[in-house]
Amino acid sequence: FVVLLYVAVLMVSVEAASGDYSRDDFPRPPRFVFGAGTSAYQVEGAAFEDGRGPSVWDTFAHSGRYGEHINGDIACDGYHKYKEDVQLMVDTGLEAYRFSISWSRVIPNGRGPVNPKGLQYYDSLINELLSHGIQPYVTLFHYDAPQALEDEYGGWLNQKIVKDFTDYADVCFREFGDRVSHWTTMNEANVFVMGGYDLGMFPPGRCSSPFGKNCTSGNSTTEPYIATHNIILAHASATRLYKEKYQAKQHGVIGIDILTYGMVPSTNSTEDVIATQRVHDFFHGWFLHPLVFGDYPESMKRNVGSRLPSFTPHQSKLVKGSCDFIGLNHYRTMHIEDDPDSLKTNQSDYLGDMAAKILSKQGRVPNGQFPIDPAGLQGVLERLKQVYGNPPIFIYENGQMTHPNASSASVDASLNDTIRVEYLDAFIGGLLQAIRNGSDIRGYFVWSFMDLFELFDGFNTTFGLYYVDFKDPDLKRYARFSAYCYRQLNRASASLM
Ligand code: NOJ
Repeated sequence: FVVLLYVAVLMVSVEAASGDYSRDDFPRPPRFVFGAGTSAYQVEGAAFEDGRGPSVWDTFAHSGRYGEHINGDIACDGYHKYKEDVQLMVDTGLEAYRFSISWSRVIPNGRGPVNPKGLQYYDSLINELLSHGIQPYVTLFHYDAPQALEDEYGGWLNQKIVKDFTDYADVCFREFGDRVSHWTTMNEANVFVMGGYDLGMFPPGRCSSPFGKNCTSGNSTTEPYIATHNIILAHASATRLYKEKYQAKQHGVIGIDILTYGMVPSTNSTEDVIATQRVHDFFHGWFLHPLVFGDYPESMKRNVGSRLPSFTPHQSKLVKGSCDFIGLNHYRTMHIEDDPDSLKTNQSDYLGDMAAKILSKQGRVPNGQFPIDPAGLQGVLERLKQVYGNPPIFIYENGQMTHPNASSASVDASLNDTIRVEYLDAFIGGLLQAIRNGSDIRGYFVWSFMDLFELFDGFNTTFGLYYVDFKDPDLKRYARFSAYCYRQLNRASASLM
């Protein structure tokens, strides 16, 4: 009762700042959905159960990268608690839930025999969602390549993975495609490559960059580009398969997902303005250009030279137009400064190849949290309209971090996530503006549905609408203020605040 009273008081107190929109301003499903997301390694746990094989993320975490014994072995125990979690989604009024399938749960060695228990888990999850009227939005790859393929041939660095990924996708389309209408091949493909093959920050932890302080493997200047090339080819191959074998029967759509930054030139000098275009090319165009035009952006070809793989005419044809939609994960805006020296002094580094500095300015939010700048997202959407022909877009991740597990934080304080509510409110309002300005947006997903094993920080930083008490052996979930507000948006003709 105390918590409810507290939430009621908070709701009244933020009423004055109420967002200028309501659920009624957005199209209804299936044209537009409001949802929230998670990913397999970050919530499922059950890492050694029912025949699941290890992924590179298990290996990365078990090497101590997040601290001793900090890993996703148990995470939120979503594997066992999925019914309870779906009930919370119902309570929150979610229209859709975005989650990923663990490749090595379905095919433990990455290729070869399929694990029936793995299939059974995703079958049950999908059926549970649908029985409550929640649409499953499924990602096939979220940072967790099977370790067996990494060991056998170097994972994404080897073109052999294109066939293995396509075969895995085939199993998923065949088993779940009668009930799943939205497929995403890769989550945040650009950051996966940058973090995993350039900076050594994310699994598999390789780097070509001097910034990658803890790197133990990889030092080739071409690795980020090779991994990307194979990811694009794997995406295109799985998409072709879906379109030829399944789409006519299953009536679904398929796309890819990348991270976007709002990008603002640091000054209005010509150099900074041109540098900003170039960083757009490196960061977003690296994937979007091939998918829309069949080739990498000119600025990348110029700066990266022969280290950038090229598409054969056959590959280019396969890749071009291979998306029904683009998923965007968007959190913040960056300021871009021209930096010609980075190319000379730092040639081994993808960031150096950009010949620019990407600067994060903090704004009024506490240090480390994301400044609230929906105009940055609107800028990206405008650019996608102008350069890439206004493709259908899902905002697949958007959210604000908090630090509930800092030693001083109490559960009650953690439930009061007004800063998250303000952030989400501003972005949802900004999104409505972008729709009114002609962007073809089909859905919005809060990251994340609940606290989970965070990619860059283990359990120290969380994004959840629901707080998970990771100290409780039962991993109890508690609704945050943001969960109540999101439910108010989804359930009533009201805004978030
Ligand atoms: C990026 C990733 O897709 C997700 O795994 C991560 O937790 C969030 N964004 C926040 O960093």
